[in-house]
Amino acid sequence: MQRFVKIFTHGCQMNDLDSRKLYSELAGHGYQPTEDDRLADVMIVNTCSVRQKAQEKALSTLGRLCILKRGRPGLVIAVAGCVAQQEGEELAERFPEVDIILGTHQLHRLKDLVADVRSRRQLRVETAFGDAIPSMDIVPDKDFLIPPHRAYINIMQGCDNYCTYCIVPLVRGREISRDHGAILSEVRLHAERGVKEVFLLGQNVNSYAGGMTFPELLKEIHAVEGIERLRFTTSHPKDVSPALIECFALLPKLCSHLHLPFQAGSDRVLKAMNRNYTHDSYLRLIEDLRRARPDMAFSADVMVGFPGEGEQDFRLTLDLIEAVRFDVLYSFKYSPRPGTAAAALVDDVALPEKRARLSVLQSLQRRITLENNKARLGKIVEVLVDGPSPRHDHQVFGRTTHNVIVNFAGPSSLIGSTVAVKVTRANQNSLTGELT
Ligand code: SAH
Ligand code: SF4
Ligand code: F3S
Repeated sequence: MQRFVKIFTHGCQMNDLDSRKLYSELAGHGYQPTEDDRLADVMIVNTCSVRQKAQEKALSTLGRLCILKRGRPGLVIAVAGCVAQQEGEELAERFPEVDIILGTHQLHRLKDLVADVRSRRQLRVETAFGDAIPSMDIVPDKDFLIPPHRAYINIMQGCDNYCTYCIVPLVRGREISRDHGAILSEVRLHAERGVKEVFLLGQNVNSYAGGMTFPELLKEIHAVEGIERLRFTTSHPKDVSPALIECFALLPKLCSHLHLPFQAGSDRVLKAMNRNYTHDSYLRLIEDLRRARPDMAFSADVMVGFPGEGEQDFRLTLDLIEAVRFDVLYSFKYSPRPGTAAAALVDDVALPEKRARLSVLQSLQRRITLENNKARLGKIVEVLVDGPSPRHDHQVFGRTTHNVIVNFAGPSSLIGSTVAVKVTRANQNSLTGELT
């Protein structure tokens, strides 16, 4: 009998990759992925706890599934990821319908736990941290690469930085690197299957230590035949070494884009966040990167309303944004997270003030994004074509080396290839172009 699984994914790219691995593992055990709630025999919520809102969203999905289960007692419900790690068994008290609670180091056990729960109907809670994370070595089957020419590869997990606002070190554990040999064989396997772009993932990739340094790993992957583009995330500004900057000068396949979260522009706030860099040293780093690769594009994360952030501190965040001219900024209102150092501080920036700052920041960034896009008008850009354009018939879309989305008229046979496109229109969040 055919069985079906549906996974709800919240949170970051790493969670997205984890979900693909879970789908792939279960597919190997006879569970076909489905979008249809009515068909699913197993439902998994892969959760995020980085901000209060993310956690609430994940728990509201879970609540909905628990109600579903009341009419379908055979349904297996699993909670995985960062909320599962943080809350553990307590989740089962709040959601008694849950069968499996799976922490971030235990994902490889899902298939066995599902089989176990189906036969014994007993709650399983697996949230131990280990010295290794076996799921890092799960390579999703090629059917689970979307698009098929891009492979996300986990090179490390966890974080030892303890930024005072951040729950990630608590829910992903300390930094654990995957062995470079395993990473390189995965890259080679993908290359043989036709993957063109490799996207390396880790909470803190610059501290990679799986038998070589991160810049050395980049060089090894760069040498793999068939791989045309190489990207990675996330980098901590304090760990961007001269050797990493040099990679942008030496490695042409390394894309001209870096996601470099700065969080705040005020040295006082950065210190309270335990970020270990300053406004000026961040700007110098951007300069050094632009010297190594003059057309470098940047994106970042930033938050407003950290405890004690005053109007003047916030101005310094705006100044930094003006100075760097990011293409994309992911901006958040600070929310206290349980167990973090900042949770002990008074959350003293009122919600309306956080909202107002966020809105000022976002409108500044919208202006800069559009100006950056307009500066690309008339240029010829190389686009790796990702798929059919979601909004326009007979159009496809892809990304430039700067990670900017370009839509243009062209056949879907172009998907997976890199083509030269002339930019004819600059939109707020994308470019429009024509094949040259
Ligand atoms: N490893 C990455 C990203 C971690 S989480 C890094 O080092 O930057 C993604 C983003 O969520 C962070 O960059 C930060 O901007 C935001 N974030 C983390 N904790 C938060 C909190 N308590 N409140 C609001 N935003 C938060
Ligand atoms: Fe969180 Fe800081 Fe680690 Fe990023 S570097 S995951 S923000 S503790
Ligand atoms: Fe969220 Fe966990 Fe990623 S807290 S941002 S899913 S590491």
